[in-house]
Amino acid sequence: MAKIAPSVLGADFSRLAEEIASTDKCQVDMLHLDIMDGHFVPNISFGPAIVKTINSLTDNFLDVHLMLFEPEKYFEAFQKAGADAITFHIEVHPDPVAHARTLKSMGVQAGLSLNPNTPVDKVLPFLEYFDILLVMSVHPGFGGQSFIESALPKIEAARKFIDNHKLATQILVDGGVDADNASRVVGAGADVLVMGSAFFKDSNRAALTKKVKAM
Ligand code: DX5
Ligand code: ZN
Repeated sequence: MAKIAPSVLGADFSRLAEEIASTDKCQVDMLHLDIMDGHFVPNISFGPAIVKTINSLTDNFLDVHLMLFEPEKYFEAFQKAGADAITFHIEVHPDPVAHARTLKSMGVQAGLSLNPNTPVDKVLPFLEYFDILLVMSVHPGFGGQSFIESALPKIEAARKFIDNHKLATQILVDGGVDADNASRVVGAGADVLVMGSAFFKDSNRAALTKKVKAM
């Protein structure tokens, strides 16, 4: 059974409360919240105040994806805002274990992400310290991009490593995932599909959620 995590970046922010209510109604597994600083990625999204607002609108698990330089400066702000998991990038912290420990000591799940151009070998040695591996299947910064196929062998390699070492790390895949490629992404070994535009643009979100959960 796969899980689905709508990325709120793809929602209509003028109707944020209704959009979040719709994710609850569909019984999605978690919400993915993209935080962009305009430096690590060429775009700016939203910060802890919006995460706090979203947390007040739902009881669902909030998976916060920090596309920031110096993400550790903001761990506490996002934890206080209601983050259940906080993910940062290996490109920013090539030696990420201390930050994983900090997150866990705060009672937050720790996530590690890698960009499309970063080899999967860079993250494998650290997975035992992380609850989440977020494999980027687009260059981060914007929703609505096309899925980069070279993410698939990276997902396969991570799945093999996690299974061989009997780790509990969940594999999330983020970027360009839609109803067409979802089964291939799950087949490669993903546990959770992050979907921004594919979820929020779908006229039957409940059916899409059901389809993913049945994979
Ligand atoms: C990209 C973000 C993604 C994005 C996914 O930088 O990290 O989470 O919101 O959006 P879609 O599913 O539209 O590619
Ligand atoms: Zn993301």
